[in-house]
Amino acid sequence: MADIEVRRLSKVYRSRAHPDGLLALDGIDLAVADHQFVCLLGPSGCGKSTVLNVLCGLDPQYAGEVRVAGRVVSRANGHPFRVGYVFQEPRLLPWLTVRRNVEFALQSEGIAKSEWRARCDGWLGRVGLADFAEAHPHELSGGMQQRTAIARAFAVDPEILLMDEPFSGLDELTARTMRELLLSIWLETKKTVIFVTHNCFEACFLADRIVVFTARPGRIKREVTIELPRPRNYEDARLFELSVSVTHHVTGTTARGTRLPD
Ligand SMILES: Nc1ncnc2c1ncn2[C@@H]1O[C@H](COP(=O)(O)OP(=O)(O)OP(=O)(O)O)[C@@H](O)[C@H]1O
Ligand SMILES: [Mg+2]
Repeated sequence: MADIEVRRLSKVYRSRAHPDGLLALDGIDLAVADHQFVCLLGPSGCGKSTVLNVLCGLDPQYAGEVRVAGRVVSRANGHPFRVGYVFQEPRLLPWLTVRRNVEFALQSEGIAKSEWRARCDGWLGRVGLADFAEAHPHELSGGMQQRTAIARAFAVDPEILLMDEPFSGLDELTARTMRELLLSIWLETKKTVIFVTHNCFEACFLADRIVVFTARPGRIKREVTIELPRPRNYEDARLFELSVSVTHHVTGTTARGTRLPD
């Protein structure tokens, strides 16, 4: 388990297209307590994936300070903690079975081979894929592939779980099932989760806190605490009202189209 502390995080990308640098993030301050479920919400290109890449140590070239469980994430340290990362697309290795995909992650994290079978069977069972452990990814539906990715992320027993629009490629019915599955696992394991989404309703359904970003360069525009009791219900009118109000914060407009102050 881990708490996350991000102070004055800025990120400039230098590329051929932007030789002088493109400011993607500008002074992000974010503190996430142990076991919290936080959604990052904001327009395309505002730097949400960049935040995740910095947090997991994939991108150590940033300005500011990033600590997970008190340890600095840096080029020298790499990521000195265990992280689970679920991407928008499942990113399974197509030549490996579902079981081997999960085992590959366990191996990469240095988990003893003697634990692999129990962890794989446990997590594949948890996401409803016990009968597909020996199948290859092309034999699975999109939702089943994404469930494999979730099993893989939880199987390493991560200290933080980073999820980048993991359900946005799924139809709404499958996405609902997946959100409920994720919440039930989260309630059980109480991981610290940072979940990126464009979807205000999804953010309100899932999160303890929603952090709303401005358009690029990404800055934190507003934070919204979601105090609805769990388990949450899709039919709850309060959820709908909250998501309308969060949508207004993201778009900066009211229902009548009047601009809100930042
Ligand atoms: N590797 C890279 N090299 C150069 N620029 C990059 C790179 N990755 C991201 N960017 C730029 O940084 C900005 C933020 O990108 P990022 O992918 O973090 O946005 P995002 O909020 O995740 O967007 P989306 O919701 O569309 O996934 C964008 O303007 C993008 O063009
Ligand atoms: Mg992104």
